[in-house]
Amino acid sequence: MVNCFEHCGELKIVEERFKLETERLIRSWMRYDRATLHDYLVEDVEDPRINIQSILTRHFLIERLFGEQFDALMEQELRFGLVMNWLLRLLKKPVNAGQLQAVLGTLLAEEDNAEGLEIPSYISETFSTLRLPNYICDLLNWTPVETTEAPVPEYLMSTFQAIWHEVLVSEPPQNISVLEPACGSANDYRFIESFGIARLLDYTGFDLCEKNIRNSKQMFPEARFKVGNALDIDAEDNAFDYCFVHDLFEHLSIEAMEVAISEICRVTRQDICIGFFNMHDSDQHIVKAVDDYHWNKLSVGRTKAILERHVSGVQVIHIDKFLASKFGCGDTHNKDAYTFIIRK
Ligand SMILES: C[S@@+](CC[C@H](N)C(=O)[O-])C[C@H]1O[C@@H](n2cnc3c(N)ncnc32)[C@H](O)[C@@H]1O
Repeated sequence: MVNCFEHCGELKIVEERFKLETERLIRSWMRYDRATLHDYLVEDVEDPRINIQSILTRHFLIERLFGEQFDALMEQELRFGLVMNWLLRLLKKPVNAGQLQAVLGTLLAEEDNAEGLEIPSYISETFSTLRLPNYICDLLNWTPVETTEAPVPEYLMSTFQAIWHEVLVSEPPQNISVLEPACGSANDYRFIESFGIARLLDYTGFDLCEKNIRNSKQMFPEARFKVGNALDIDAEDNAFDYCFVHDLFEHLSIEAMEVAISEICRVTRQDICIGFFNMHDSDQHIVKAVDDYHWNKLSVGRTKAILERHVSGVQVIHIDKFLASKFGCGDTHNKDAYTFIIRK
């Protein structure tokens, strides 16, 4: 076991405790069927093509591969994510094709009110940075007459997938290894692959839930996916250059989270990107046990302090504040989301 305690008796107790927690975590995810695991974290606002934290993780990888070369494209992709999230919210209200076309007319006229619907400034600013016609025109025109119930067409959802794929297609692979603990059913990897990033690096994903790994292997037989435990990572110290992980730590007990953090820092040689979905700017964690696992609200300061025991620098990005200051966007769907970029 990974944890170091002075007394053998204490070590044994801790081992047993994490063994039980591990069994309960496995039970928590194995209760879903494979089809549910395949889809439920890549839908709607979680779709990694438009989810801001997934976009930031891909940018983390692209920056490690290419430095600042693609900064302008990365900014446009974040804007795309904001536009898509705004549109999805709009489509959940009763809105018809005529109203969407009125939004387009308003944007073209450089005005901000479409028949009573206020258009946020980040939408009109993004529109003005694009040549005509552009994906926003397509998004506001695609809807079948008098209904918005059909999902946004795949080719529009994949606008930046097509762009990145084209931009990266002639880049040679680099000697960079990347680890993703708690990879789910290749939820982010499937887009890291389709965006043309996966072929440039050496990826390993693991998850405690064997059904997730079977799904991942079925989709990507050539990629490296295995069953594994973030509390006891099966790898040498500094085995990977980089690591990224999404939405894991809130589901662990605080003690297990500390172990998982030390494990991830142990096996990573350089930078780590962590996405959290439930944090707050307070000095206390709020621990909430739900059935067999946790749904904690983590303290930003305490979590940062735990990381700082192992690494030299932690950059904290509060997604809501980041989008407000960079794009004037005040309507992110999850105000409690944070991404940490960590330098070892
Ligand atoms: C909320 S899901 C997130 C999945 C994926 N990272 C994403 O963002 O879509 C949490 C994942 O963590 C996995 N998990 C939970 N505890 C784990 C552990 N100790 N080691 C490895 N994976 C774990 C679960 O099986 C599940 O796939």
